[in-house]
Amino acid sequence: MATHILLLSILAFCFSVAFAFEPSPLQDFCVTDFTSSTLLNGKVCKDPKLAQASDFFFSGLHLPGNTSNFLGSKVTPVNVAQIPGLNTLGISMARVDYTPWGLNAPHTHPRATEIFTVLEGTLHVGFVTSNPDNRLISKVLQKGDVFVFPIGLVHFQRNVGHGNAVAIAALSSQNPGVNSIANVVFGSNPPIGADILTKAFQVDKNVVERLQTIF
Ligand SMILES: *[C@@H]1O[C@H](CO)[C@@H](O)[C@H](O)[C@H]1NC(C)=O
Repeated sequence: MATHILLLSILAFCFSVAFAFEPSPLQDFCVTDFTSSTLLNGKVCKDPKLAQASDFFFSGLHLPGNTSNFLGSKVTPVNVAQIPGLNTLGISMARVDYTPWGLNAPHTHPRATEIFTVLEGTLHVGFVTSNPDNRLISKVLQKGDVFVFPIGLVHFQRNVGHGNAVAIAALSSQNPGVNSIANVVFGSNPPIGADILTKAFQVDKNVVERLQTIF
């Protein structure tokens, strides 16, 4: 009995320790070495003596993205792919442009929480909680408003104002990743079997096949 209590106490102690997703860096920085072909969990660092200001720099976020597409929105990412010096630092950002009624379609970031602010316009934004509740938590944002999309949850933004809208997002990973729901479900390569999606979505096979031709 005493050993059980001791064991439980040790277990309780172990599980009270919180582990961060991205451990603190072990050096000042780790600028991506694009010439290395070594694969590891992140990107290879180049010699820190060779680091330049340009490794920590991006220019052009004042420029609107091209929203001429069926969604009427464009994300301009600024992550480790654009700024090599972001490697291992656990942070990145993006600009999002929207035409009137433009939509940033439902998607998730598998590796980042997002904090999002409206620079111009009016956006209806929301995210959905995990199973079993699947609660939609949504709000209409005005210029200067800030909203949070928790890591891994499906979220979206739609322009419900009269003019164009612009937002800036900050993300808690240098490589947040994006899973666009429609694309991962109906646009995978090779496609998920239509019989699987027919059963999962409880619709006719021709509906699934139509969605698969779109995405
Ligand atoms: C915007 O994208 C559309 C569709 O891809 C293209 O036709 C158009 O030339 C682009 N406009 C600019 C200014 O790049």
